[in-house]
Amino acid sequence: MKFFFLCFLLCFGLDLAFSTTTSDDQLLYLGFIAGNNLTVDDAATVTSNGLLELTNGSLGCEGHAFYPIPLHFRKSHNDSVQYFSAAFVFAILSSYPTMSLHGLAFIVSPSMNFSNALANQYLGFMNSQNNGNLSNHIFAIELDTVLNIEFQDINANHVGIDINGLHSINSYPAGYYDDRTGSFHNMSLASGDAMQVWVDYNGEAKKISVTMAPLQMAKPTRPLVSTYYDLSIVLQEPSYIGFSSSGGSEVSSRHYVLGWSFGMNKPAPVINIAKLPKLPRPKHQPKLLEIILPIASATFIIFIGSMVILLVRRRLRYTELKEDWEIEFGPHRFSYKDLFHATEGFKNKHLLGAGGFGKVYKGTLPSTKLEVAVKRVSHESRQGLKEFVAEVVSIGRIRHRNLVQLLGYCRRKGELLLVYDYM
Ligand SMILES: *[C@@H]1O[C@H](CO)[C@@H](O)[C@H](O)[C@H]1NC(C)=O
Ligand SMILES: *[C@@H]1O[C@H](CO)[C@@H](O)[C@H](O)[C@H]1NC(C)=O
Ligand SMILES: *[C@@H]1O[C@H](CO)[C@@H](O)[C@H](O)[C@H]1NC(C)=O
Ligand SMILES: *[C@@H]1O[C@H](CO)[C@@H](O)[C@H](O)[C@H]1NC(C)=O
Ligand SMILES: *[C@@H]1O[C@H](CO)[C@@H](O)[C@H](O)[C@H]1NC(C)=O
Ligand SMILES: *[C@@H]1O[C@H](CO)[C@@H](O)[C@H](O)[C@H]1NC(C)=O
Repeated sequence: MKFFFLCFLLCFGLDLAFSTTTSDDQLLYLGFIAGNNLTVDDAATVTSNGLLELTNGSLGCEGHAFYPIPLHFRKSHNDSVQYFSAAFVFAILSSYPTMSLHGLAFIVSPSMNFSNALANQYLGFMNSQNNGNLSNHIFAIELDTVLNIEFQDINANHVGIDINGLHSINSYPAGYYDDRTGSFHNMSLASGDAMQVWVDYNGEAKKISVTMAPLQMAKPTRPLVSTYYDLSIVLQEPSYIGFSSSGGSEVSSRHYVLGWSFGMNKPAPVINIAKLPKLPRPKHQPKLLEIILPIASATFIIFIGSMVILLVRRRLRYTELKEDWEIEFGPHRFSYKDLFHATEGFKNKHLLGAGGFGKVYKGTLPSTKLEVAVKRVSHESRQGLKEFVAEVVSIGRIRHRNLVQLLGYCRRKGELLLVYDYM
């Protein structure tokens, strides 16, 4: 069969210079134009600046985008699937950098109808019933950001070759082999950076190869992952080509395709990265927890701190001196706290008199409502204090109408307080 090289260069818009070039055997999208040789469904849209947004950040959503005309993968009905080649530039922007639930896939499928497919680990093109069923006739390259034990995934950042299901027939951690040194370099699929993937099927050797590289880099010679598999027993005639992706349930991610090319029995046209639309600036949207947690912990620390300061101040304020020899005077001992409250903190308005001996305050004991006079005597040394206290207490035991009744005492550092009946 002859191939016509019909080229439709469609340049739209004022500041939009994105183009779609299609021919019988080649496709090239440098940015996307809504409705222009592109069918999108579910969460997928084409943004105003020409990005194909497969998922829109909503949790648990899925999105698909297809070239609406099915392609013939065989030259004639009885032939085997011929050489084809695809290239695309994608990016995964996630609310948590380098973490995305889930990834995206380039797929070749007999249908564009994925209404029965599930989101999350099924990447929007499989479900728990049909996963792995030979009647799916689906070939896919998964860019998977989740380790699924159920599909025997190798890690949470891998590229896999899928036939009819998500249990990859071969996969490898995302990255590339440097052409000069031959060494392997890791790449993080969900880094938010745009990167390019090439998918090649050699119809004669029946070999599938997948290569990837950072955006600025030319296609590395050594593929990232390749495998021998006859796609003639998989693909139906004709089949659609496109993308499927799924947003996750916990981390909000957006999956973008910036450019895409495809060649049937021809290399996929080179994607001129200078002409691709720009990705939105990754705006770091802090999760509610990230805001609340520091505030909550700061509040907690301040609260605990205040409590400690309050308790310490309280202790200091009411702190007393008590020694073993005072046990016998126990009933005559008043707590400083009670005296403090009785005199409203030894306020001047309760002052009855002052002299060399100290100051006398009037007060009302909080517990008994008894009116008392409190004499504050300052003393600097312990010298003779014991005898003094013994003396005042013994005097207090004598009841006489000419004697002011001593009720008791209290002691603090450098201070003795004597409590009398108020007359
Ligand atoms: C899609 O591409 C075909 C060529 O393959 C072209 O004829 C057609 O106009 C395009 N459709 C749109 C909506 O641009
Ligand atoms: C994302 O797409 C889904 C459709 O799958 C829609 O229900 C939802 O409102 C969209 N969310 C936003 C933020 O546009
Ligand atoms: C395709 O194969 C069938 C038998 O499987 C045969 O009858 C038919 O002639 C073949 N067609 C061509 C075009 O080779
Ligand atoms: C998609 O498939 C489902 C069931 O497989 C069917 O109910 C639905 O009508 C189909 N949608 C379209 C647009 O063909
Ligand atoms: C595969 O799918 C076909 C058609 O949907 C169904 O009849 C068959 O039972 C499925 N096979 C398995 C193993 O589930
Ligand atoms: C690539 O990442 C994997 C883990 O994802 C790590 O084990 C490996 O050492 C890394 N290789 C290089 C070359 O950084």
